[in-house]
Amino acid sequence: MLKVLVVFGTRPEAIKMAPVVKELKKYPDLLDCKVAVSAQHREMLDQVLTLFKISPDYDLNIMQAKQDLFDVTSRVLTGFKKVFLAAKPDLVLVHGDTTTTFAASLAAFYLQIPLGHVEAGLRTRKKYAPFPEEINRTLTGVLADMHFAPTSTARDNLLREGVKKEDIFISGNTVIDALLDTIKPGYVFANELFNKLVYSPDKKRILLVTAHRRENWGEPLREIFFALKEISESYPEVEVVFPVHKNPAIRLEATKILNASPRIHLTEPLSYEPFVNLMAKSYLVLTDSGGLQEEAPSLGKPVLVMRHTTERPEAVAAGTARLVGTAQKNIVAETKALMEDGQKYQMMAEAINPYGDGQAAERIVKFILFRFNIIRMLPLEFCSKNVLKKYFSRKD
Ligand code: UD1
Ligand code: UDP
Repeated sequence: MLKVLVVFGTRPEAIKMAPVVKELKKYPDLLDCKVAVSAQHREMLDQVLTLFKISPDYDLNIMQAKQDLFDVTSRVLTGFKKVFLAAKPDLVLVHGDTTTTFAASLAAFYLQIPLGHVEAGLRTRKKYAPFPEEINRTLTGVLADMHFAPTSTARDNLLREGVKKEDIFISGNTVIDALLDTIKPGYVFANELFNKLVYSPDKKRILLVTAHRRENWGEPLREIFFALKEISESYPEVEVVFPVHKNPAIRLEATKILNASPRIHLTEPLSYEPFVNLMAKSYLVLTDSGGLQEEAPSLGKPVLVMRHTTERPEAVAAGTARLVGTAQKNIVAETKALMEDGQKYQMMAEAINPYGDGQAAERIVKFILFRFNIIRMLPLEFCSKNVLKKYFSRKD
């Protein structure tokens, strides 16, 4: 029995690892799957655990108000030392680029436990953007033994860094698995305001907004918020829905600048199900989040990315996402263009799936079984030449 310990700590990791946990648990005779959370996030993590019915086997419960990177890194590193020693996993699986990811990977390395990295290989090649995620992801890649790259661009990044091609598997991004599982046509919201906005006969245009990146704290966030205010004042049909991240650095400023605007709705972080169903009904997404850049293209929603660089170039290349930076002037101009130029909007509203087809978790688990010689061959549908070329870097 292969003991796999799935490790995560924040909202996005939980959303993207939930399909992997579900898939690992389909093989109780072959795999012993356990879940360990750092709880770097608490409420925002628990929302996801509840939705996907995951009860962690280990919970470090480390979150503190206003924690800094040193707090999180040290508590995760020492916390997971004890968990890994107790659980004795054959494989630790981490996700993405958070400080939980990096510190848990370091703990696995110190104990010489094989490490699998899901959502590996995304890069901006800029040390401080996103901060500290770019370096968290790169260092996790250095420590990992198996790399699950969501796209061929991510695979190529890893190859350029000298990762052996037989250690890289192109899986697609598991966020698309989670998304496709959660979107429901005709979804009825528990929040009456959302039902009113979405199903209202007057043609409301919902702008869905999120913002939380560390490198945007301070002046860039203020610019973003003033841009939202200006947009909402310019278009009476626009309703901005902005579920505000729990981080006090963001809440304080968002409330100060936006609270008095009648058509800007600041809410608590939404559970994943209402959130993505609201995205599916939105006109436009404005965000600095990583995950939203992957989800919105699948739903045919244009995304204005309020950052200067992105480690997710595929949607930008395909034309559904645009990097607009954080200056108020630019955000307003780019939004206005999409409000007023129907042709431009339509060109960006093409539904594309550069990040996956909803079967990433299945691929990841099959690859793990294959890699540990639990299955000797991959299932037939993984073995045609074309599929191998698409999803494998290895030729066998
Ligand atoms: C973290 C990740 C970031 C990821 C983001 C997703 C790091 C360094 N940052 O950033 O990569 O994109 O999560 O959202 O790993 N808080 C709560 N309740 C919660 C969650 C957060 O109160 O459920 C508050 C706490 O005061 C906490 C603060 O938010 O101290 C910051 O949380 P933290 O995880 O350190 O940073 P994020 O900005 O959330
Ligand atoms: N999300 C959510 N509720 C919200 C805002 C976002 O469920 O109120 C989801 C979103 O669909 C995406 C993920 O959370 O899957 C993104 O998380 P976040 O923005 O915190 O982190 P990032 O993607 O930037 O790492």
